[in-house]
Amino acid sequence: MFLLGTQRVNKRGHLEVGGCDAVDLVAEFGTPLYVVDEATVRTNCRAYRAAFEERYPNVRVEYAAKAFLCVAMAQLIQEEGLHLDVASAGELHTALRAGFPAAELVLHGNNKSLEELRLAIEVGVGRIVVDSFHELALLDQVAPLQRRPQDVLLRVAPGVDPHTHRRIRTGQADTKFGLNIQSGAALDAVKQIIGTPSLIFTGLHCHIGSNLMDATAHRAAIEAVLDLAAQVRDETGLTVEELNIGGGLGIRYTPDDAPPSLDDFATSIVDSLNDGLAARHLPQPLLLLEPGRSIIGEAGTTLYTVGSLKDVLLPEPEGVRHFVAIDGGMSDNPRPQLYDAVYSALIANKAASPATFTARIAGKHCETDTLIEQTRIQSPEPGDILAVQSTGAYNYSMASNYNRLPRPAVVFVRDGGARLVVRRETLDDLVSHDLPLHGN
Ligand code: LLP
Repeated sequence: MFLLGTQRVNKRGHLEVGGCDAVDLVAEFGTPLYVVDEATVRTNCRAYRAAFEERYPNVRVEYAAKAFLCVAMAQLIQEEGLHLDVASAGELHTALRAGFPAAELVLHGNNKSLEELRLAIEVGVGRIVVDSFHELALLDQVAPLQRRPQDVLLRVAPGVDPHTHRRIRTGQADTKFGLNIQSGAALDAVKQIIGTPSLIFTGLHCHIGSNLMDATAHRAAIEAVLDLAAQVRDETGLTVEELNIGGGLGIRYTPDDAPPSLDDFATSIVDSLNDGLAARHLPQPLLLLEPGRSIIGEAGTTLYTVGSLKDVLLPEPEGVRHFVAIDGGMSDNPRPQLYDAVYSALIANKAASPATFTARIAGKHCETDTLIEQTRIQSPEPGDILAVQSTGAYNYSMASNYNRLPRPAVVFVRDGGARLVVRRETLDDLVSHDLPLHGN
C-alpha cells in the first residue's frame, strides 16, 4: 500500500494523517480539503539541512514559497531555520505578515516591477536575484534611495536541458529566465552590477527545472556556473561568494516514482561542486538550495467527497470505463491538465479494503478535467472520501476559482490535532470584489 509521511490505516480502517482520521477531518472542515502533514514538512526541512550541512561547510536552505505559502507555512519555515524565496509582492507580503525576517528573504522573478523592487528594498529583503538588464535599470532607480547597498545575485541560464515536462524546464539556453552564460550576457551583467555603487554582487543563481529524478542536470549546471565564476575572477578579480543552485528535486506521486534520497542528492551535488571548484582553483562559496516541491509535496493530501459514479460502455477492447466524480478538480489541482501529472488515490473511509476497482477520477468542472486517468481504488460509493496523495506542492498555490468554485480550506495536522490555517472561501468571498453594472 502506498502511504507517505505519517499516513497510516487506523483501527477503524480509515486513512489517518498526522494522527487525525480523514473521516473526522472531513466532518469538521468539509471537502475539498487540503491536509498538510506538519511532521513531514518539518522532517523534510531538517533532512535537507542535515544532508547538506554534513557534507559542506557553508550551506543555506531556502524554501521556495511558490510551492505552497500561507502565513502559517512561512512561520513553520522560520521555526525550522530555513530562509524563504519569494517571487512576487504577494508572496513577499505574506512572508512579512507572518513575521518572517526580511533579511532572510530572497526576491525572485523574471519581470519584477518597479513597485516590487521598491517594496523589497524598503523592507530590507536580504537578497534580490537579478534576472535581466531591464531589472538592473529599475534597481538603479530605487536602490540608491537606501543607505546601504543592496545585495544581489545574478540569475544565469546555464544552457542545460533537464529531463522533465517541457513546461517546467528552465535551465536550457532558450529560456526567459536569467542571462545566458555561453553568449557572454551573464558576464556583462556581472560587470554592470559590479559597476553599480548601490548594488553589491554576492553571487550567481540558477534553477534548471522541476521534479527532476536525478542530479545529472544539476551537476551539468554547476559546471557551467563555475566556468562563469572563474571568468568573473579572471576578468574582475572578484570572488563569487554565493552559489544558489535552485530547487528541482522530484518527489513520489505514485509508487513508480523513485527520486534520489536527500543523502544521495546532496552527495552528488557536493561532490561535483567540490571537484569543479578544485579544477578551477576557486574557494568554496556559500552553497544555497531552494527546494519547494521536495519540502511540501509529499506532505499534502487532498480529501474530496465522491459524488456521481458513471459506467460508460466503450467499444472493445476497452470495455467499461468507471468514472468517479469528486467535488473538486482542476480548480484545486490544475497539474494533471498542465503537466500531465499522475497522482495516486485511495478511499479514505475504506482504506483497509483491497483496491480492486479501476477508476477514472473526474473533476466537477465544465470540461474534461480528469484528475487521474486510471487508478485502482477501493470500491466507491457516493459519499465516500477520496484521498489524493502528494498534493502539497503547486496545488493550493495554483488553485483558481474556475466555475466560481470557492477555494478549499487548508489544515495542518500533527500528533492527532488539526489546525485550520487557511479558511475555506465562501460564496460571498467569490463576489466580494465584484461591482454592479449600474448604481453604487
Ligand atoms: N527556485 C526557483 C527560482 C524556481 O523557479 C523554482 C520553481 C524553485 C526554486 C523550486 O523548485 P522545486 O524544488 O519546487 O522544483 N508549477 C509547476 C512547478 C513550477 C516550478 C517553478 N519554479 C508544477 O506544478 O510542477
